[in-house]
Amino acid sequence: MKSLIVNAPSGAYEVRVENGLITEIGRHLTGILPTQTRIMVIADRNVGKLYGDKVVESLIGAGYDFRVFNIPPGEMQKSLGMYAQLFDVLLMMGIDRTSALVALGGGVVGDLVGFVAATFMRGVPFVQVPTSLLAQVDSSVGGKVAVNHPVVKNLVGTFYQPVVVLADPQVLYTLPNEEYVAGLGEVVKYGMIRSLELFAYLEQRHDAVLSLDPRALEHVVSTCIAIKADIVAADEREKGLRAILNFGHTVAHALEAATAYSKFRHGEAVAIGLMCETRLAVKLGLAAPEVEDRLGALLGWLGLPTKQSHVQPDQLVHLMLLDKKVSAGRMRFALPKAIGEAIVVDDVKTPDVLTALG
Ligand SMILES: NC(=O)c1ccc[n+]([C@@H]2O[C@H](COP(=O)([O-])OP(=O)(O)OC[C@H]3O[C@@H](n4cnc5c(N)ncnc54)[C@H](O)[C@@H]3O)[C@@H](O)[C@H]2O)c1
Repeated sequence: MKSLIVNAPSGAYEVRVENGLITEIGRHLTGILPTQTRIMVIADRNVGKLYGDKVVESLIGAGYDFRVFNIPPGEMQKSLGMYAQLFDVLLMMGIDRTSALVALGGGVVGDLVGFVAATFMRGVPFVQVPTSLLAQVDSSVGGKVAVNHPVVKNLVGTFYQPVVVLADPQVLYTLPNEEYVAGLGEVVKYGMIRSLELFAYLEQRHDAVLSLDPRALEHVVSTCIAIKADIVAADEREKGLRAILNFGHTVAHALEAATAYSKFRHGEAVAIGLMCETRLAVKLGLAAPEVEDRLGALLGWLGLPTKQSHVQPDQLVHLMLLDKKVSAGRMRFALPKAIGEAIVVDDVKTPDVLTALG
């Protein structure tokens, strides 16, 4: 088992990564939550069907009293409506301030249940059991929890850290392949911003990663979590360093918004964003052209997109200028200087961005 500590200023917590851990959630919780704690497991229906029984058996084995509630899958559920509905469910099931919530699923469930936990009776402990690649390497660690407004994603939310994150890479075997590959977009991002070793590992072992080789998976997931944990510990509330995690995301968010969140999975939009923003870094003289070449090759090997023709560059720039990362018409980007090193650049000019998107 890999155990990593996230030393967040608001409280430290552990992330455990182990193949097969899903059948031992109960045992992992003893020592973190007293066995008198009533546990409310909230899962998305797909994940609940596959893993609900295993989690329940392990909770029984560990002596916990528990309740289970499944919600329909999909981003639509990360809504104010579902948020409100979950409070009815918690009350009906006898959940109180001495209870704890377990989010069993991908980033949708993690973000939603985390926000419910942050606000129910002014905050109850919550546990992240991430089951998608994106949730394991990204959304379950760092404490950003939120629901969407009908027109603005993640508009209503807060920072609220889980008491523990329990990640089992083996559950990724049942994840639809497109979801898995999309999650690799974030994995590549970590290599680009912080770890030449991870990037080189992906280059050399892309076949093992794509075939979900157990050792490769455990290595990739725990390496990404270690990078994120490090960044979150240094800058929990995104006042500085944490902004480098946005590499690829300025373009990705504009692309997702321009296509009504229906054309690209998040990780696919991120892959295209990584390419465009690296091209921008090369154009600005920050990074060598070789960085762009290696990135393009790796994304291709992993089956991720590197370009798109659905949205015109000027429309993307228009959307970026509406984004919160803009001040006085100058855009803010997290950009690579080399593979494994990124910086935040505050004064990128529109014509340079247009060229990089073209
Ligand atoms: N909080 C953060 O820091 C952060 C960071 C990145 C993304 N996010 C959020 O994460 C969300 C996207 O997360 P996601 O990509 O995990 O989407 P998701 O939660 O919708 O999961 C994707 C799909 O995979 C299915 N699934 C998940 N695990 C499975 C498994 N093991 N086997 C079979 N099917 C499985 C789900 O049912 C769903 O249909 C977005 O709402 C995004 O805003 C949050």
